[in-house]
Amino acid sequence: MNRQLFAAATLMASMTFGQAAFAADCKVDVEDPFDLDAAAIEEIYSCLKDEMAEKYAQGGDEVASNYRDWTVTSTRPAVAGAHGNRLLQTFANDLAAEEYLKFAEEGVSMPAGAVLAKESISISTKKQTARTGPLFIMTKGEAGSAPETGDWVYAGVQPNGKPMKFKQSFCHDCHVSWEAQDMLAYPLEEVRLSN
Ligand code: HEC
Repeated sequence: MNRQLFAAATLMASMTFGQAAFAADCKVDVEDPFDLDAAAIEEIYSCLKDEMAEKYAQGGDEVASNYRDWTVTSTRPAVAGAHGNRLLQTFANDLAAEEYLKFAEEGVSMPAGAVLAKESISISTKKQTARTGPLFIMTKGEAGSAPETGDWVYAGVQPNGKPMKFKQSFCHDCHVSWEAQDMLAYPLEEVRLSN
């Protein structure tokens, strides 16, 4: 290996090591994410919270850079089962918050411009660590802009700040189960923050 390559490899190794050392601080000592109690989840969240926002924002995505200033919709992240058994916490922008926080079960119609951003934490039961998962985003368009998905656009930002790639139907085929709630599934009842 020439000297330059060696230096680059050493740098990469130390960067990876740095990250691993950080993640190792966010320990999880249960076999199953569903076994995490509120206190354990709060501990994991305080460990990862700042790092998550920084990671999502690094690609300059507008939602990923601003969602933490929006209205939080739950008392803490929670595991709902969908979205890969990750811990989930949803934020609503100004246009979405009032309607979303009613958690109404029928006749829901979000205004165009409403955005929900849901951060996620992946639990590795094998490594017993928690790390930043993707940021999931739903944006409501003008009436008729996306008839196949109820005018919603589904998007995602990876923990490296880059956009996730998937078909709209991948998200919508599941979210359509909540059609009477304008495709919104809402956080678990036990953690909802109503207004
Ligand atoms: C297998 C079903 C399923 C699939 C597939 C799915 N979701 Fe969800 N989604 C849910 C459930 C259940 C919730 C509510 C759980 C929670 O947030 O605690 C949710 C919540 C959300 C929310 C918060 C707004 C709301 O509905 O309350 C966003 C944003 C979101 N999902 C985006 C996405 C995106 C983007 C995709 C595709 C990459 C996707 N979802 C795929 C089931 C699904």
